[in-house]
Amino acid sequence: MTHLDRLMARGAEFLGTRYAIMAGAMSWVSERHLVAAISNAGGFGVIACGAMTPELLDAEIAGTKTLTTKSFGVNLITMHPQISELIDVCAKHQVTHVVLAGGLPPTGSIDRIKANGAKVICFAPALALAKKLIRSGVDALVIEGMEAGGHIGPVTTSVLAQEILPSVSEQLPVFVAGGIGRGEAIAAYLEMGASGVQLGTRFAAATESIAHANFKKAFFRASARDATASVQIDPRLPVIPVRALKNQSTESFTAKQREVAQSLDEGSIEMGEAQLQIEHYWAGALRRAVIDGDVENGSVMAGQSVGMVVKEEPVADIIAALVSEAEAALAARG
Ligand SMILES: Cc1cc2nc3c(=O)[nH]c(=O)nc-3n(C[C@H](O)[C@H](O)[C@H](O)COP(=O)(O)O)c2cc1C
Repeated sequence: MTHLDRLMARGAEFLGTRYAIMAGAMSWVSERHLVAAISNAGGFGVIACGAMTPELLDAEIAGTKTLTTKSFGVNLITMHPQISELIDVCAKHQVTHVVLAGGLPPTGSIDRIKANGAKVICFAPALALAKKLIRSGVDALVIEGMEAGGHIGPVTTSVLAQEILPSVSEQLPVFVAGGIGRGEAIAAYLEMGASGVQLGTRFAAATESIAHANFKKAFFRASARDATASVQIDPRLPVIPVRALKNQSTESFTAKQREVAQSLDEGSIEMGEAQLQIEHYWAGALRRAVIDGDVENGSVMAGQSVGMVVKEEPVADIIAALVSEAEAALAARG
């Protein structure tokens, strides 16, 4: 057993994997091929349910099972209108790990998933919320900093890790996410008390990813500073920031907010409708980039670690590189 194996032991046991490396669910990207490839390579793949219907999720889980016998999870967005049916689909397939994303889990959902025999993993955006989630019975936490791709919170990974790990990592496994591109960082977070890590950006353009070639090329060309967070321009219109590569869609999102704010000023729409319009703007934008390859008008969600993604590589090579970098870093410490 290597030093890295020892540091990863608790997380790997919890996930049922060789390595305590989760691939964070990415809508449109984390479907059966990428998920199975990650689990087959010793990591933990997570299907992104996103806006899928229960029927689509059913098919995706079944499809993933034809490609891997290894452990994998399913990520559900808590505000999905059919969250309850989606939980039933996971139960039908005896999914072992359910990740709840996008806000605090609805009442009763954690208990229901656990009653089905699955483990529940939630995102903790702050220490107080981590404690609340632990009281609600979650089995593991992910703490994700603002370096990450996709929807993000306001705090960096390094600060969340310092604030949350010392207080809760003895109670349950905690996985650190956001901005991790190399194994040295994995080693560092494990030494700080994390049980494992979660990466998204590093896997999005892997060989097994079904993302459009244009999407992958945009990743290979981009540097850290190109992955910027969307900006809220009107205090009345709360916008959950999204980190994506700067492009035409970044500009048009600002224009869209201005347009909606003006409609509010003129009284032509209500606040509820205004906020809905803002959220709907994103609906489809990621699909346009990932599936259709329109990397100018679509949303190329990517974290700041995108600068460390320089070529298309099989998932197994990415995981092998991360592991050997982490092992070398630990060995260098003596
Ligand atoms: C293209 C893309 C799409 C994502 N979609 C989701 C999603 O649907 N649900 C979710 O919980 N997280 C989503 N994320 C976040 C990832 O699961 C993961 O936590 C994040 O990428 C980790 O940070 P990193 O990008 O710095 O590695 C997405 C990230 C990216 C890059």
